[in-house]
Amino acid sequence: MGVDEAIASLRAVRHYTGVPVPDDLVRAWVDVARWCGSSKNSQPWRFVAVRDRTALVALSAFGEFAGHLATCDVALVVIATPAPYQFSLAFDLGRISQCLMLLAHQEAIGSCVAVFGPHDLVVAAGEVVKAPPAWTAHLAIGFGHPGPQDRPADDLQRVSPPNRLVTEQLLFWDAVPEDATDAVR
Ligand SMILES: Cc1cc2nc3c(=O)[nH]c(=O)nc-3n(C[C@H](O)[C@H](O)[C@H](O)COP(=O)(O)O)c2cc1C
Repeated sequence: MGVDEAIASLRAVRHYTGVPVPDDLVRAWVDVARWCGSSKNSQPWRFVAVRDRTALVALSAFGEFAGHLATCDVALVVIATPAPYQFSLAFDLGRISQCLMLLAHQEAIGSCVAVFGPHDLVVAAGEVVKAPPAWTAHLAIGFGHPGPQDRPADDLQRVSPPNRLVTEQLLFWDAVPEDATDAVR
């Protein structure tokens, strides 16, 4: 799979078959994703791979849309160091998460982010994985072989076609034109 296809065909997968994802595969994803850039090369991330079903079910209650963690095969809980700039931290965590999900996708393993919150639930998620003091568990990524509901069709669309803006609504040259109000409202 080329980079173009990998990016365009990556969809959130929230239903899983239960077939195990090998530990070696998870380790290999982290071994590649660790080359991801980060603000001032701070690498503000660590990953806790969780397979224990009781822990996964607990984590699934720590976000409004985290239910898929209860049934995934393995979740990577992304714990983060305190960072001076919230923007950089969020950017870095998003970037590393996308790397991990693309690497899984390349192996036909589905994934979906789960954001934890509000803050007391971020703390609770950190407690499940015994995050060191000052480290925060903002999110986890659930992984698993895609269940029938989430399998790709023959083209880039899946059962639930993604709704995306078209390029003309996204890309402007030199300045946003005044007649682009439909695109930027
Ligand atoms: C920052 C971020 C947070 C997300 N949080 C959740 C979440 O908590 N639960 C969930 O089911 N999906 C979550 N998603 C997945 C998005 O809902 C999904 O990517 C979006 O609806 C587009 O669908 P697609 O990825 O299948 O194309 C998150 C995605 C991003 C980028």
